Amino acid sequence: MRRVGIASLGAYVPPKILTNKDLEKMVDTSDEWITTRTGIKERRIADESQASSDLAYEASKIALAEAGIEPSDLDMIIVCGVTFDYPFPATACILQDRLGANKAGAMDIEAGCTGFIYALSVAYSYVACGFYDNVLVVGSDVLSKVTDWQDRSSCILFGDAAGAAVVTPYKGQGELLNFYLRSDGSRTDDLLIPAGGSRNPASHKTVEERLHYMKLNGPEVFRLAVRVIEDAVTAILNKAQLKKEDIAILIPHQANIRIIQTAARNLAIPQEKFFVNVDRYGNTSAASIPLAFYEALKEGRIKKGDYIILVGFGAGLTWGAFLIRW
Ligand code: UT7
Repeated sequence: MRRVGIASLGAYVPPKILTNKDLEKMVDTSDEWITTRTGIKERRIADESQASSDLAYEASKIALAEAGIEPSDLDMIIVCGVTFDYPFPATACILQDRLGANKAGAMDIEAGCTGFIYALSVAYSYVACGFYDNVLVVGSDVLSKVTDWQDRSSCILFGDAAGAAVVTPYKGQGELLNFYLRSDGSRTDDLLIPAGGSRNPASHKTVEERLHYMKLNGPEVFRLAVRVIEDAVTAILNKAQLKKEDIAILIPHQANIRIIQTAARNLAIPQEKFFVNVDRYGNTSAASIPLAFYEALKEGRIKKGDYIILVGFGAGLTWGAFLIRW
């Protein structure tokens, strides 16, 4: 097995900002309720013309430039998310064409908001085995397009973004050390888009019943999220035989500040070690972890040699963690 590293990261958020004050005009809510219950102050919203691959393209360009890699050097492109351009073909193929990555395979991975951890584990495995040298992993989601803007309990939570990473043989930076993945498919109904797939194909009735929008059992997902963050962080530490104190920074999926605070308390890890940007972007699904990772790096929160844990949870239910040494 070869050692594997993250050569670079990139991220993109659309320019349009939707604040809590703006939401007060759309549904029966308040800045105070949203801030205290979620920690979110504002989120980014894609314009009408922007689909997942458009956001992914912008984030990918940054990651490729920072890695000094041409699109034609890519062996594989993996896009993860829940709001792909089309039910098929894969958004990764659209991105492949847009980038001009003429020697790359392309596929999508769907693992809810945990997508980036899952996709990174695939990229890691390809490179570790020696099959591929340059794999582009992109988490991209345009949740605003599947948000029910009449449902105040969910529409306040989400935003649009993309984050990308270039995974290569280890060159002295961002070594991917270990990962942990889990799922619990008995929790499907807690977070899903009920219609538009083969279970409930699109029809006038499904549209009238608003079944093409995301449905969320907020309190239940909250409880599960806290539990699985603890599970994943504990498991990855045990696997690597590291102590909590060895970890410089944790980059959790950004869904709700209270989920992060509760998990930090239960794990007895200082909250300051958890990177947070949910206040500015809300929950951006599969983009959330790479976007937070990118910002943490740009803000100087990550130093050479630091142990980093990425930890995510999402629809499925899926959850997982990745241990990285910068
Ligand atoms: O990527 C994973 C995706 N999802 C998540 O991670 C979501 C996890 N869950 C959460 O973040 C939280 O459960 C929410 C933020 C969604 C909800 O917070 P909560 O503290 O669990 O509130 P709740 O759903 O128990 O609702 C409490 C009250 C209710 O009123 P009553 O029944 O007590 O009178 C709601 O109707 O707050 C009301 N409410 C609102 N009030 C003002 C719900 N949404 C709103 C709102 N503005 N936007």
